Amino acid sequence: MKYNFDEIIDRRGTATVAYEGQRKVYDYENLEPFWIADMDIKTPDFIIDHLKNKLDQAHFGYLVWKQDEYLNAIKHWYKTRFSVNVQKNDIYYVPSILFTVTEVIREFTKEGEGVLIHTPSYNAFINLIEGNNRRLVESPLIKTENGYELDKAQFEKMAAQDDVKVLVLCNPHNPTGKVWTKEECEFMKEVCEKNDVFIVSDEIHMDFVRSEKGFYSMTNQMKLDSPILVVTGLGKTFNLASLASSYMITKHRYFTLQFNRKLATYYGLAAANTLAVEAVKVAYTQAGDWVDQLNQHIERNMDILDDFIKSEMPEQLTFIKPDSTYLAWIDFSKSGFNESEVQKALQSVGKIATGIGNSFEISESHHFRMNLACSEEKLVNGLEAIKKSFTALSNNKI
Ligand SMILES: Cc1ncc(COP(=O)(O)O)c(C=O)c1O
Repeated sequence: MKYNFDEIIDRRGTATVAYEGQRKVYDYENLEPFWIADMDIKTPDFIIDHLKNKLDQAHFGYLVWKQDEYLNAIKHWYKTRFSVNVQKNDIYYVPSILFTVTEVIREFTKEGEGVLIHTPSYNAFINLIEGNNRRLVESPLIKTENGYELDKAQFEKMAAQDDVKVLVLCNPHNPTGKVWTKEECEFMKEVCEKNDVFIVSDEIHMDFVRSEKGFYSMTNQMKLDSPILVVTGLGKTFNLASLASSYMITKHRYFTLQFNRKLATYYGLAAANTLAVEAVKVAYTQAGDWVDQLNQHIERNMDILDDFIKSEMPEQLTFIKPDSTYLAWIDFSKSGFNESEVQKALQSVGKIATGIGNSFEISESHHFRMNLACSEEKLVNGLEAIKKSFTALSNNKI
């Protein structure tokens, strides 16, 4: 490999949420982080060098983000990576993914009305729906030996409810790593269209699809004024979560008008981040090779985890290797322990912070989520810590 994804980077003491944000979430301190979805992998040098050049200009006044170079870079990425022709006038810089998802919910539902999500779900969606006093409507994924599937009949029934006006689609899906097929996307689009349900498709994990099926973006389903909006950015792919590099793609002119008007005259949020715009320009024109190699590294880490569970902990854990994301959704139901016992063991014995299952699931959880965007060495230490934790649980040593 041309790039070294096994380099150990020490993010401790850098005000990184993965370390310094643990206190809000965990009962124990100083845990090795495998929880929040950012990477222990550096942003590639060619992006950093470009940003350094920009820094050397030493002026960061208000920016016009609508630049050809920025829009062409996004267009190029979609064309070369996903074979999609995105129109430049459908692309808009946005302050964040979750902000945009929330604005769709606020625009198309009233308080008390339903928002459809697939469960388990990315925890922030659950928080935003509840925090905005909307009704959370679940479409639970069906777990099969080969992965997670859409329950079409149930989805259709939920979407047909009168008060359900928005589907928040996580494409690819966090936390299961499911990649939605073209056929599933078409089905969801048709059902939503029939029932007047607006689709906001969060595609932030789009660059991590490793299966041969490839990534199917909801942008494929857009026609003029289609009630579909895709929101994504560089945050996950290039470890730039704090740089506000998100953008949306939509042909829904009414929403765009409302959204831009509110940004300027209601939120006062019209300014774009220069470094984020510059990062898009360089990443989306130069990083194809880097992203391919990063995916090979993650796939190898997924194999290491899979082998470890099969050979060392087959009686306690099950794991379906995901087609996408760098997140592993690990099932401990076979172990017979409940979530609070498992979390206590992982934190107090293993000294690791994993994603807590019940923040992603509405009913009782038997899962934890593990972030594999790290070096092999860190992963292997984490796996030993998991084994030690379950051994202590089995021996009543907690
Ligand atoms: C599916 C998904 N959407 C959005 C985000 C965060 O996006 P942002 O920080 O741009 O709001 C994450 C981060 O984990 C995520 O997994």
